[in-house]
Amino acid sequence: MTRHFISLLDLSPNELLSLLDRADQLKKEIKSGQTSQAMQGKTLALLFDKSSTRTRVSFEVGMNQMGGNALFLSPADAQIGRGEPIEDTARVISSMVDIIAIRTGSHGNIIRFTEYSKVPVINALTDFNHPCQLLADMMTVRERLGRLDDIDVAYVGDGNNMCHSWMIAARQFGFNIKIAVPKGFEPEADLLEACKDKVTLTNLPLEAIRDADVVVTDTWISMGQEDEQQQRKQVFESFTVDAKLMENAMPDAIFLHCLPAYRGYEVTKEVLEGPQSAVWDEAENRLHAQKALIEFLLDVKI
Ligand code: CP
Ligand code: NVA
Repeated sequence: MTRHFISLLDLSPNELLSLLDRADQLKKEIKSGQTSQAMQGKTLALLFDKSSTRTRVSFEVGMNQMGGNALFLSPADAQIGRGEPIEDTARVISSMVDIIAIRTGSHGNIIRFTEYSKVPVINALTDFNHPCQLLADMMTVRERLGRLDDIDVAYVGDGNNMCHSWMIAARQFGFNIKIAVPKGFEPEADLLEACKDKVTLTNLPLEAIRDADVVVTDTWISMGQEDEQQQRKQVFESFTVDAKLMENAMPDAIFLHCLPAYRGYEVTKEVLEGPQSAVWDEAENRLHAQKALIEFLLDVKI
């Protein structure tokens, strides 16, 4: 059966933990100069209709390091940009490549794509979630704190795709998360209901961050929301993660942000560049975690 990775829920908690173990191992291997040929003759297609730095680079470099190829297609290059149906695109591309990563706005479109794809499909971000990011985030938390359960996470900001992804991670990895959002910017109600054992919602950043082990935020203006920029900057004004707010977290708390970060808005420069920030490791870990994901989905025997 073809396995896809559209959400962290597509893997069992045990599979996720093994994948993180493998990511740790791949990180050690590449740092000691060891590459592999596990993907020799294999191609990953990247179908991205939104901008990307980390996701694109980590997938392309990851495939190269494993002896395979990556093929990047934007709507400007492919017929899907001129209206070719998703169903046709999925059947054609998946008859030629071995695995496909898609970044698009509509979560429904990626699901439709998987229904017609003969090969594994990876969600490289939708407006609903960003599960690849959470693999790297969990890897980073474990590197820094040595554990994944028994942690308290604070998410401060917009109830967006990153917030949803952290909620699903709380469910899969068994930690608690307190989410502080302005009124009207809550995460989706169905997901809140499904994750209610692990999630607490508040409108007060201080309440979420008190004694947290991990503090997370994301941009207030996600891709596609550029028209709401002025209004959002006002609504989120009191949700900046700054040094004063960080003082309420645990003394050894780490700060995470999927990046790109907008200094002076969702986070101050002081916090982003400060000693508690793990964002650069977090970004690098995209590479190692996604290599492990590709191996898993293509059922590479290690
Ligand atoms: N965090 C993340 O997905 O970054 P990019 O948008 O640069 O890929
Ligand atoms: N919430 C952001 C995440 C970017 C990686 C967005 O969707 O633009």
